[in-house]
Amino acid sequence: MPYQHLISERDAAIERLTLNRPQVRNAFNEEMIGELTDWAAAISLDPGVRVVVVAGAGATFCAGADLAWMAQTVEYTEAQNIEDATRASRMFAALDQLPMPLVGRVHGAALGGGAGLAAVCDVVVADEHTLFGFTEVKLGILPAVISPFVVAKIGQSAAREMFLTGRRFSAGRALEIGLVHEVVPPADLDSAVDKIVREILASGPQAVAAAKLLVADVRDKTPAEARDLTARALARRRISAEGQEGLRAFLEKRKPGWSG
Ligand code: COA
Repeated sequence: MPYQHLISERDAAIERLTLNRPQVRNAFNEEMIGELTDWAAAISLDPGVRVVVVAGAGATFCAGADLAWMAQTVEYTEAQNIEDATRASRMFAALDQLPMPLVGRVHGAALGGGAGLAAVCDVVVADEHTLFGFTEVKLGILPAVISPFVVAKIGQSAAREMFLTGRRFSAGRALEIGLVHEVVPPADLDSAVDKIVREILASGPQAVAAAKLLVADVRDKTPAEARDLTARALARRRISAEGQEGLRAFLEKRKPGWSG
């Protein structure tokens, strides 16, 4: 599917998605939000994709909402503004719920919704010079639609600090609060991302997808609900062809042969 603001490239089982509005530091406008939502729906249904890498074209990963577009929303009715924000919220939910791992390749800046995009990635590698921030209050607005995903990722303590101060923070601090998982020099960014991609591809594809679902499913469950859910999830994996292949391969001291 051709996109105006995204580059979608397939490399065997790897989907490489690049936000492509470098002239405005890959800020999200209405069209880009629509395209990302459509892309997420299409990729979610594609059984050939086992991992997605998301990156930004040009100088930064993503500068968040397009502020010129947002300034125009003063002309919208309240209902239109709510509709608009709901579309952005749906986009983040669609990215959060991709059935395959989403790896973030982050450089330059990840601000506002750009930091929100990092929060819905499963694994994030950041260039050590990247600037992060939930800077919305500095603009008199709110990190609203990203908040469920960000609070789930970094917890209330860091969310209170970052949302309320709107301060910009370093990649090192992003690592400390769990927004990113690895910080590397710029020259090592691609190799660090590739290493994570290879690790994901070496595991059972269905097991990886089930592990992603598990993290979402156990959230907010009572201990009894979690016990039932996790026991069933493990039971299904144990008897699956993939589970059996993985276990036998270990015992037979060979590499597993995953199908699909
Ligand atoms: N929305 C719309 N345009 C944006 C933008 C955004 N979020 N972020 C940057 N741009 C535009 C700038 O207005 C500028 O346009 P111009 O060339 O017409 O002047 C262009 O992108 C380059 O920005 P510039 O600030 O010169 O680039 P930089 O590489 O020095 O800095 C950032 C990059 C991301 C650190 C900086 O642009 C920035 O702080 N942006 C605001 C991010 C923000 O507050 N996001 C929260 C949104 S809720």
